[in-house]
Amino acid sequence: MLQRPRRNRKSEVIRQMVQETHISAANFIFPLFIVDGTNQKVEVASMPGIYRYSVDNLLREVESCAKLGLMAFDLFPNIEESLKDKYATESHRDGSLYLRAIKEVKQNFPEVCVVTDVAMDPYSSDGHDGLVENGEILNDETLEILGKMALAHAQNGADIIAPSDMMDGRVGYIRKVLDDNKFTNVSIMSYTAKYASAFYGPFRDALNSAPKHGDKKTYQMNPANQREALIEARLDEYEGADFLMVKPALSYLDVIKLLKDNTELPVAAYNVSGEYAMVKAAAKNGWLNEQRATMEILTSIRRAGATSILTYHAKEVLEKGWL
Ligand code: PBG
Repeated sequence: MLQRPRRNRKSEVIRQMVQETHISAANFIFPLFIVDGTNQKVEVASMPGIYRYSVDNLLREVESCAKLGLMAFDLFPNIEESLKDKYATESHRDGSLYLRAIKEVKQNFPEVCVVTDVAMDPYSSDGHDGLVENGEILNDETLEILGKMALAHAQNGADIIAPSDMMDGRVGYIRKVLDDNKFTNVSIMSYTAKYASAFYGPFRDALNSAPKHGDKKTYQMNPANQREALIEARLDEYEGADFLMVKPALSYLDVIKLLKDNTELPVAAYNVSGEYAMVKAAAKNGWLNEQRATMEILTSIRRAGATSILTYHAKEVLEKGWL
């Protein structure tokens, strides 16, 4: 035999010497859920170890993450039902829970990176990412609301705006609103290929944001499609996105790879709530080794081509020294 591949696997030192994919804390973006009130820290039932924090406790959580080297956060608000309306007005109201949270985090920890979610669903009485009229999700009318939301986030200190709604033209629209208001340094991480996925279930529990009627298939992508992601990627690049994101991650590793091979922009992937919940549930039952399964999943997302990984596992991985 001329080739014996096992020679490069014979010891830990050699295995590490030839290892192609590495993960560090710098690759992680940690999603955090926010709720109104004070001294709140309420676990999400379907996401063990993940909590909704009131702003005071959110600051403590950010501080404890930063001590572990976890420096980037994506914030999501749980909005009281009575504050929701058709137009998601609460999403850009001065002094709203979400805007206060962004401001407080940036004021107290200016060195951390705050990613903000731009979409109507947490604030919409319809539970959709767009404005609903006679059962139809309106595209261009939604853009105006997204523009107001993105501007409010920038005014309160957001570093990266992440539109997650899958409306057409939103990256270009938001870029223009930001630039017109002198926020040329605020970045856009576009949810480029976001699929209509069953794996968002636990997240919608966390935010109480499930659609009141219908589904999201007229705006989120069909899980059966790969090439369509290239159309979205081309548009996002053209419209001025700084990052392209694929979501979910695990069932879409091929899409991560496809975008990686077809763009010069950094590619991010969202390891979503349902993917996290599956690992936690199986681990709780003793059906798999949680550390090994978690690291294998995160490594596979990096291997497929993602530079940044939005993952609920981030803090635990660092706390437990799994890297
Ligand atoms: C909605 C949004 C969703 C997630 C992030 N932003 C859910 C959805 O589209 O219904 C899902 C995140 C997760 O499941 O972890 N704008």
